[in-house]
Amino acid sequence: MGTAQYIPATKSQLRFYRDVELYARAEGKGFVLYKRAGITLSEMRLEHGIHPKVLFIRQTDKLRGLREAQKGFNKELEHFVEAKEPAKIKETVVNVVQETLAEPRSGSLEGISDTVGLLVNDYIRQSDVIKTLVDMSSTDYSVIMHSINVMAFALAFAFHMRYPEAQARTLGLSALLHDVGKTKINPHLLAAPRKLTEEEFEEVKRHTTIGYDLLRGCKFAQKEIALTALEHHEKLDGSGYPKGKFNISETAKIVGIIDCYEALTTDERPYREAMEPFDTLDEIIGNEVKLGKFDKDIYCEFVRSLGGRKSRLSLKQFYAPPYGNARVAGITG
Ligand SMILES: [Fe+2]
Ligand SMILES: [Fe+2]
Repeated sequence: MGTAQYIPATKSQLRFYRDVELYARAEGKGFVLYKRAGITLSEMRLEHGIHPKVLFIRQTDKLRGLREAQKGFNKELEHFVEAKEPAKIKETVVNVVQETLAEPRSGSLEGISDTVGLLVNDYIRQSDVIKTLVDMSSTDYSVIMHSINVMAFALAFAFHMRYPEAQARTLGLSALLHDVGKTKINPHLLAAPRKLTEEEFEEVKRHTTIGYDLLRGCKFAQKEIALTALEHHEKLDGSGYPKGKFNISETAKIVGIIDCYEALTTDERPYREAMEPFDTLDEIIGNEVKLGKFDKDIYCEFVRSLGGRKSRLSLKQFYAPPYGNARVAGITG
């Protein structure tokens, strides 16, 4: 047995593996089967006691393992929703999104659909769970946290608009996956604590078409999901990217506004500090609406959907150079 075909198993996924076989490294013998298919580690524990620290899976089982983990996470999520435990809901959503975006491709992205489905549950509609999701602080502000925040705002918008369940789910899912293309962009560019060069910005812009291609290859029934990845940086006056389109899908228009709002109000972006939510809405996004870049009706409903949301942050250094107002349309997530 060669070593190349085995990879360390992801710790958080281990407990969910049933059909995926696990291997241990044995002195002089290479990799030996540790857990056969058809049984989980916890069922095995009864026979074996403590497991080895590092277990391996076959490289070829990676996707299958992720799918088993997604199912397991979703099952736990369902339980936490029923038990009304917001902290656990939050933790599970972060885990499942994190692990899915670590392996974003056809066959894995679909698994996140059930996760979003569980978040349009009646209890969640009537509780503060969605707010809790946005308010969670993280020192690792990444595509993952941004995506979860945008999804949470999108779901709040959908509940405010009284969208039927299927429509809420589609909007939530489109929002959650709008930046999936960023997982294929050089992370140094995404985290650069400075203004990007023209060339670098062109590279970052590619996340729209990359995301579109990724999602088009998935088995999602709703074409809005891939379209939102492609169009969420387009503007109604044709000044957006990647194509400078005038005709933008409804879902992409909504996600575009939320995306801009989230990117400007969250405080863990590397290149600047956050703005007051009120300033953001009124001065930046409101201005873009006046210029005919964002849809006015959607903007007004979005403002209403935020309701009495308290300001998360305070700071007003946004107008300081080099990130002046003119740059806003470009820097959003
Ligand atoms: Fe984006
Ligand atoms: Fe974004």
